[in-house]
Amino acid sequence: MDIENIRRPESMKRIDTPELAQAFIEEQIAEVRAQVGDKKVLLALSGGVDSSVVAALLIRAIGDQLYCVHVNHGLLRKGEPEQVIEVFRNQMKANLIYVDASDRFLDLLKDVTDPEEKRMIIGGEFINVFAEEAAKLEGIEFLAQGTIWPDILESEAGIKAHHNAGGLPEEMNFELVEPVRILFKDEVRVVGKELGLPDNMVYRQPFPGPGLGVRCPGAITRDRLEAVRESDAILREEFEKNGLAGKVWQYFTVVPDFKSTGVKDGKRTFDWPCIIRAINTTDVMEVTVEHLPPEMMDHLVQRIITEVPGINRVLYDFTPKPPATVEYE
Ligand code: XMP
Repeated sequence: MDIENIRRPESMKRIDTPELAQAFIEEQIAEVRAQVGDKKVLLALSGGVDSSVVAALLIRAIGDQLYCVHVNHGLLRKGEPEQVIEVFRNQMKANLIYVDASDRFLDLLKDVTDPEEKRMIIGGEFINVFAEEAAKLEGIEFLAQGTIWPDILESEAGIKAHHNAGGLPEEMNFELVEPVRILFKDEVRVVGKELGLPDNMVYRQPFPGPGLGVRCPGAITRDRLEAVRESDAILREEFEKNGLAGKVWQYFTVVPDFKSTGVKDGKRTFDWPCIIRAINTTDVMEVTVEHLPPEMMDHLVQRIITEVPGINRVLYDFTPKPPATVEYE
């Protein structure tokens, strides 16, 4: 059967228990083996929930017939590429090709200020890097993707293109393998947990494809990007410590491209502000702001201004959506 025609059965029970997840995993292992045989499968593994669950499932089903490519575009959060390598290469023994393409992306993005142009460059270069890696491998016939059921529904409704990998299949002539195609996001998480993926991978907050690139508004510079990455790491650590990780939908920092005057150790500074955004939502169309405890705010401010080079102010974004979108670009 052509995979494009596989649909979620109306009668399908929501996968919300380990038993149901196990049954789904067994079923998919059999289906993937039947589809793929002894051929090789390629997967772009971003480290996000969907591609990670697909990787873990396919490792169970076909072991080293799976080739995962993790492209580091230089816009990932602190510790992310390391975690992908640890979980998939070291623990699950996957064939993992890790490509540090940070310099390529950052060189291309130099002086680019338009948000949509930044997105196009990041998306386009991702395809280039992935295609180059695919070309080095011989005998690949299948491309695995973390397409999920809402992607299909949204693409049918004309809201977005559902192929996460951005047009790769048509160009590269692979047959698709989409083992979580009929699942809702919450079900993907239950299946991922059952496959042994760590909680911070399975329950992680949404993260945009262009990564920290859209949180470093205007032309991306390496120093400001590092300020975003470091402040984001501090924010995530404090959310974890305060039991808010997994409770708040999305939280991150933005470092805008302007400077203001400050004073440190009796000397004038001229540095960037760091903006904290923490929001809650169910459908991302409408968003409310999470109000953090005052002590946590004070602690965050102290940590960010002392630990992150180039920051001399911390601001909090109190704006709901609408009128403000979640991301700044
Ligand atoms: P906005 O900013 O549109 O964000 O209110 C809504 C949700 O979508 C995420 N987002 C993106 N995800 N590529 C993605 O994969 C993107 O270019 C992108 N822009 C925004 C955002 O993080 C939020 O969860």
